[in-house]
Amino acid sequence: MYSELKSLLWTWMMVSLLGLIVSWILFISPSWAQTTVSGKVITSDGMVVSSGAVALEKGELHNNAFLAGGAIGSDGTFKIPLPSGGPWGLHVYSEKYIYFPLQIQIKAGVDNDIPVILPVDGTTTDDPKISNIQFKKLSDQVFQIAMQVDDSNHNLGPQMLAVDTKRFKSYRLVPTDGDIKDVKADFPNGEYSSPFIPVALDGEDLKDWLFVVADHQCSNGPILNGLGQSVFKPVVAHSETLSCEVPGIWKSNFDKVYQFSQTAPGMFAGEQFEGNLHIDKMEQKGETLTIAFRLDGKDGSAELKLHCQENLVRLKGTFKFPDRSGDWVFAKLKNVKAALSGQKLFAANCSICHFSDSKDNKVGPGLMGLFNSANLPNSGLPTTDENVRERIVNGGDKMPPFRHLKEGELKAIVDYLKAL
Ligand code: HEC
Repeated sequence: MYSELKSLLWTWMMVSLLGLIVSWILFISPSWAQTTVSGKVITSDGMVVSSGAVALEKGELHNNAFLAGGAIGSDGTFKIPLPSGGPWGLHVYSEKYIYFPLQIQIKAGVDNDIPVILPVDGTTTDDPKISNIQFKKLSDQVFQIAMQVDDSNHNLGPQMLAVDTKRFKSYRLVPTDGDIKDVKADFPNGEYSSPFIPVALDGEDLKDWLFVVADHQCSNGPILNGLGQSVFKPVVAHSETLSCEVPGIWKSNFDKVYQFSQTAPGMFAGEQFEGNLHIDKMEQKGETLTIAFRLDGKDGSAELKLHCQENLVRLKGTFKFPDRSGDWVFAKLKNVKAALSGQKLFAANCSICHFSDSKDNKVGPGLMGLFNSANLPNSGLPTTDENVRERIVNGGDKMPPFRHLKEGELKAIVDYLKAL
């Protein structure tokens, strides 16, 4: 009796332990790894900034739910841990450059490398200015910040920010007389106050705090530390040697920023940041790169050629659109890290549940020869690109969805499956 009970207990323990391990692998492990956002801040005139501030709002861009933040280092880079993945609004500020807001989608448990290119701010006379920063101790564990903000052309926006670069936090300051609900309204000159900050002020190094304000034209003035000193350091020349090839970060003559990545020999995926142009196909044949794209529901095409001399790498050509055509010129800003291969992506995302070298079941069906049979092993749907993509993106009964994969990554996985 006793030993029966013991073995029952033993089985029960093993089963729950196994369950724990499986759920750890499936659900918990990614969130244990730190979620971070990082980048190198380069400028549209080919420089790397050496100072500045980064602030992140949780959720949609411009909802002003500022939460995280950090400093840009003297090498132009930043790296900021985030409490969660999902949508975030990224704001990057460096003196003498137009500030950069970008809606980003953060993958949990990994470092998210975001390209940032700041346009040159031609006129600095209209920049808003900060003065009289005060740290007010409210109790041993709480303080509040106040500062004076003035803008000569009276078009201040809602972003009056304090960034705690040591704890990677950002706070929005509001007019001391009361916040303004309409964030598109011009904010007043005058005193701004922070929320109560749950940090002991005693022993705090005020140089770890950065202050920045922006106006509705995305101008920001000097960025100050908590001692009221400007943190500005001169920009430096871009040290990266640009490779004479299509993959990379590019800026077009329409001031849009793109990332092109290779998906197969001669084939590329293109992604526009902060825009509605969608690239369907990019193919290089000999000297010519052809692009099929969609904009506002209409199809367009383009033919470009790569021109390289020293560190000036350009793609030049023309685009054709139903109602117009014209020059399309891209200047390369940055190389990209080699795109992940389909094999590596499969190993990282799929191999815990699928064999690639057998048709045997693991957690899901073996995927060897997937594209050689007319029907998919589980659903019986026809084996088409669309159906396989659909399954990867949306998952299944026991298969998780992979909505976060970028177009280039998805294509790389499907191409890999075709070769199995
Ligand atoms: C957690 C386990 C798991 C992971 C991870 C996973 N799958 Fe699956 N997959 C399954 C299971 C289980 C099925 C069977 C259908 C179901 O239950 O959803 C399946 C089915 C499939 C099918 C067959 C679909 C059909 O309609 O018959 C394909 C193709 C597939 N997975 C591809 C992938 C790819 C590619 C990846 C990686 C990007 C991946 N899976 C990651 C578990 C997983």
